Amino acid sequence: MRIDIATLFPEMCEAVLSESIVGRARKKGAIEVYCHQIRDYTCDKHRRVDDIPYGGGMGMVMQAEPIYNCYKAVCEQTGIKPHTIYMTPKGSVFNQKKAIELSKMNNLLVLCGHYEGVDQRIIDKIVDEEISIGDYVLTGGELPAAVLTDAVARMCSGVLSSAECYEDESHFSGLLEYPQYTRPEIWEGEAVPPVLLSGHHKNIADWRLEQSLKITSEKRPDMYEKFEKERNKHKK
Ligand code: ADE
Repeated sequence: MRIDIATLFPEMCEAVLSESIVGRARKKGAIEVYCHQIRDYTCDKHRRVDDIPYGGGMGMVMQAEPIYNCYKAVCEQTGIKPHTIYMTPKGSVFNQKKAIELSKMNNLLVLCGHYEGVDQRIIDKIVDEEISIGDYVLTGGELPAAVLTDAVARMCSGVLSSAECYEDESHFSGLLEYPQYTRPEIWEGEAVPPVLLSGHHKNIADWRLEQSLKITSEKRPDMYEKFEKERNKHKK
């Protein structure tokens, strides 16, 4: 999997995506991530990449041409047209299902907006889908691009070690994850649930499922309802 990020702040994305699990996966070649400075693709002698909006209004709009030049350079490097995502609060809301779907693609290009957004014509020309990371507005698309890249990258094979396996975690199964405990056995007078010390794998699995169901029904009744609906469908 190769992910290209087109941005006015490549260092911002690099800072996040050079660390921890994604940073390690990049170093060992399990995934490739390249952050491109859109400003490097403008023909303007002052390296301008934005202008005032036609029709008036506040703020600046990112111009189509530098973004298109950046897109074409990525296409030339890879020899194919990447699946192109524009990060915007107007997009459909990102979730684990989308992360898994995107992790199956070979090439993604993530476009980060800034100011009052980008010229609609570049969206119409190159963008396959618009994605938001939630119903709030950030100052730019860099943090959303890093969030999406992290969530997608960790679903690619070779990125997580078996110890970091995702199959038990929140959202993967449609339920929130059960609580975890580690040493010491008693901390501040609070003991670890005895079943976890029993060594009885079936009882532990039953307890964890019970906890997952309880936590999900309390914290995310919407997820719980969906899970129960699916479960009943399979029972029939
Ligand atoms: N750009 C600004 N806010 C955003 C959001 N919530 N999701 C994606 N991109 C954004």
